[in-house]
Amino acid sequence: MRPLPCFVVSLVCFATVCGAAHATPALANVYARTSTSLNGTWHYIVDPYENGYYDYRHQPFDAAAKPTAGYFLDRQPVDRTVLQEYDFATSPTLSVPGDWNSQDPRLLYYEGSIWYERHFDAPRHAADHRLFVYFGAANYRADVYVNGHKLGTHLGGFTPFWYEVTSLVRDHDNSLVVKVDNKRHVEAVPTLNTDWWNYGGITRDVLLVETPATYIADFRVQLQKGHADRVGVTVALDGARPAQTVQIAIDDAAPALELHTGPDGRASGEFSAANLALWSPDHPVLHRVTLAAETDRTTDRIGFRTVEVRGADILVNGRPVFLRGISIHEEVPMRGGRAYSKEDARLLLGWAKELNCNFARLAHYPHNEFMARVADELGILLWEEVPVYWTIQWENPDTLRNAQAQLSDLIARDGNRASVIVWSVANETPVGDARTRFLRTLVDTARAADNTRLVSAAMEVRPDPADADHKIVDDPFGQYTDLLSFNEYIGWYDGLPDKIDRIHWTIKYDKPVVISEFGAGALQGWHADPLTRFSEEYQADVYRRTLTMLAKIPQWRGCTPWILCDFRSPRRLLANVQDGWNRKGLIGENGTRKEAFFTLQKFYGEKARQAHSSSEAAK
Ligand code: GCU
Repeated sequence: MRPLPCFVVSLVCFATVCGAAHATPALANVYARTSTSLNGTWHYIVDPYENGYYDYRHQPFDAAAKPTAGYFLDRQPVDRTVLQEYDFATSPTLSVPGDWNSQDPRLLYYEGSIWYERHFDAPRHAADHRLFVYFGAANYRADVYVNGHKLGTHLGGFTPFWYEVTSLVRDHDNSLVVKVDNKRHVEAVPTLNTDWWNYGGITRDVLLVETPATYIADFRVQLQKGHADRVGVTVALDGARPAQTVQIAIDDAAPALELHTGPDGRASGEFSAANLALWSPDHPVLHRVTLAAETDRTTDRIGFRTVEVRGADILVNGRPVFLRGISIHEEVPMRGGRAYSKEDARLLLGWAKELNCNFARLAHYPHNEFMARVADELGILLWEEVPVYWTIQWENPDTLRNAQAQLSDLIARDGNRASVIVWSVANETPVGDARTRFLRTLVDTARAADNTRLVSAAMEVRPDPADADHKIVDDPFGQYTDLLSFNEYIGWYDGLPDKIDRIHWTIKYDKPVVISEFGAGALQGWHADPLTRFSEEYQADVYRRTLTMLAKIPQWRGCTPWILCDFRSPRRLLANVQDGWNRKGLIGENGTRKEAFFTLQKFYGEKARQAHSSSEAAK
């Protein structure tokens, strides 16, 4: 394969920084595409000094027009005289997908760069077909190379990115090298401090994706905002033949709509959904939606539902709903590592179902795509969030662009998922003008990308200096969100459990209140009196009292207690109790359900029965 002329190479080098490779076209519905999995064991080299990336003058090797050094060249010493101080072929291996921290105890605390390398063949089913290397995610910064060519740099540990490699690969024995660096930075998103483990690595699937020369790059098929009887469709083709006819069919029936894309490959339209069975938590109906262009076709399983707020009510398909939720980190406790597969999603959301949940908050960053797809199947409504967490650089335009890119990429990936009803733009951020401006921009970004869902954020409660039992919710940012969501830890960080019973609220906005966090720590199996911190009894007592207290808030419409499972955190260091784990889970590190699990399960079971009988009565 003739290498690309040098000039083009350097253009490709620095095309992208954060968000999907915007120089590269969209690549929607990737799991329905013809693809070759590049998962498996990859060689790796731990490179804390980035010796394979920078020369001794700290100049990046890949900035050279004709690079002669750098691990990305993936060279093999041709003979015994050659001095080469790295060799992937003889280096140890890690599993991909997977964080490196839970795969090798020596890497548990490692923050820095690790080089990943593997070779692959690039089969194509037609000579004019295109090939893309797709990553579900890599935390945090990824520099990607194929056959020694730099494809790009991606920032952000929780959203997909991909590069076109059509002209860079040969049929056999291609080299794919990725430098992943999970070092934390103050200007990053998230910033330096988080209460979750900074898992590093290629944490989600890697695929070699094949498409026709002109393919369906992106599409959105959803009910129009506020209309349960009209489906809106937007489609975008990419390739040499952008102007085509595209037919949209539901469940293999006759085409419901025919669109004609223009010279930019785009078209949009709508059709009646009069007889379409709607999706809801009780009836998670998914339809086979096929988009057939002249040169390509793709099928996705999509549910159709409306979601809106009316006063203090949240309506799904026009019916009031109470969100029986739980917060979830993207981690499998028994593995002590990042979750990434459909099986992991079934495990975590299966536990949520066992709790009688119809809602889950995926905290604090975009989880893998399987979570939303499994939630679609199980009938669990979702809150998805970007890691604008605690105190980030509100005045830094690069930080804002980074946050916007992560939000846009999340919406682009999950925009067709019926389960997703809330885009959350932040968690526990300090009230202030710069912060509120920053978050407003994210709200505008979300609404521009998708006007059919709700937007929110996990805000904080303001104490009343004159009355310790009086809590005030008046964050100025609350005027821009559809839900009023806030975290409260009364009875844990704020007083003892009996304080919960005395709490009274002043809530500034007449909006649905969804408590995004409450909870208490408990070491599974530790039993004592309800005033002993970290005992299961203490945690269960906080749950009982809090659920009673919240019921007094007239516009209370749901909650996502903190949290489904214990999770690793570098901030939780109480020996023999926390040992690097946040113990607020309802399920312990080894999968044990704690007493509070059953407290919440019972409460939600009752709520579900009430909802069922009232919807029966409404029929
Ligand atoms: C915070 C935060 C969580 C954290 C939790 C806790 O509210 O949002 O990320 O883990 O409290 O303190 O356990």
